[in-house]
Amino acid sequence: MITIDTVAGLKEQMARLRQGGKRIAFVPTMGKLHAGHLHLMHEARQYAQAVVASIYVNPLQFGANEDFDAYPRTPGHDKVALLAAGVNVLFMPRDDEMYPRGRDAHTVVEVPCLSNELCGAFRPGHFRGVTTVVYRLFDLVAPDVALFGKKDYQQWLLIRLMTADLGMPVEIVGVETVRETDGLAMSSRNHYLSATERQTAPHLYMTLCSLRDRVLRHGSVTGEAEAAAIESLKTQGFRPDYVSVRRQDDLAMPRSEDKRLVALAAAWLGKTRLIDNVEFELKTGI
Ligand code: PAF
Repeated sequence: MITIDTVAGLKEQMARLRQGGKRIAFVPTMGKLHAGHLHLMHEARQYAQAVVASIYVNPLQFGANEDFDAYPRTPGHDKVALLAAGVNVLFMPRDDEMYPRGRDAHTVVEVPCLSNELCGAFRPGHFRGVTTVVYRLFDLVAPDVALFGKKDYQQWLLIRLMTADLGMPVEIVGVETVRETDGLAMSSRNHYLSATERQTAPHLYMTLCSLRDRVLRHGSVTGEAEAAAIESLKTQGFRPDYVSVRRQDDLAMPRSEDKRLVALAAAWLGKTRLIDNVEFELKTGI
C-alpha cells in the first residue's frame, strides 16, 4: 500500500494506475476505522482492480460546537487495517492540501433542499461540507466507482444527487450497514458512549425495527407511529432529533403509491449523536 499526503503525489499515482488500465474504486473515510469501513474496502475489491482509500477529518462538515477537535484520530491502527484489507493507495492529506486558500475561502458544492432536511436541519452546513470534500476528492482520484455505507443514508443519497446533477462519471454504490451483534450500527463515534450508554444504544435500531413493523402491519405511515417511536426513544434515555419514514429514492415524504421506504432516526445519548435507518418495502403502496 502506498500512502500519499500531497495532491501532487496523488495525481501522479492515479495517472500511473490509469495508464495501467486499472478500474479504480474509491472509499473516502475520516479514519478511526472499524469493521464497517473494512467491509467497504472488501466490497470495493469486487468492483475494481485498484482500491484507493482516504482518511481526512474534514473540518468543513463540523459545526462550530461539534466534535471536530475530539474526533478520534488513529492513523497507525488505520494504516495497518487498510494494508490488511488489500487497499492499494491511501491518501491522507493535510488541510492545506485539501483547501489551499483556507477552509473558509474554498469554493463549496451544495445540493439544495435535501441538504437542509433530516440531519441537515440539526447540523446546518454539515452536508455542504460533505459534498464539498467529496467533490474535491472525486476530482483528485477520478474513481470509476465509489462506495459509501448506508448508515449515512442521507449522505449516500446526496452524493448520488451531486454526481448525477454535475454529470460526474462515477458510479456510487451504497453498502449495507455493519452492526454489532446486539444491532448497534458500527460508527467511529460509538467509542464516545459510556458503558451504560453502550447498553442503551441498540434501542435506536430496535425502535426503527418496531416502527417498520408497525408501518408494515398497518400498511400506512402515520404521524402517530413516528411520534410513538420518539416517545419510546425518550423513555430509553435518548434525546431524539427526529424519527421519520421517507421514500428510499429521494427521502421525500411518502405518497400513497410509494412502496420502497426507509425509517430514519437521529438521537443523542449523553454527548453522542447516533444515526441509523432501516429500509423496507410495502407489498402494496401506503
Ligand atoms: O462518512 C464519512 O466518513 C464522511 O462524511 C466522508 C464521506 C468521508 C466525507 O468526509
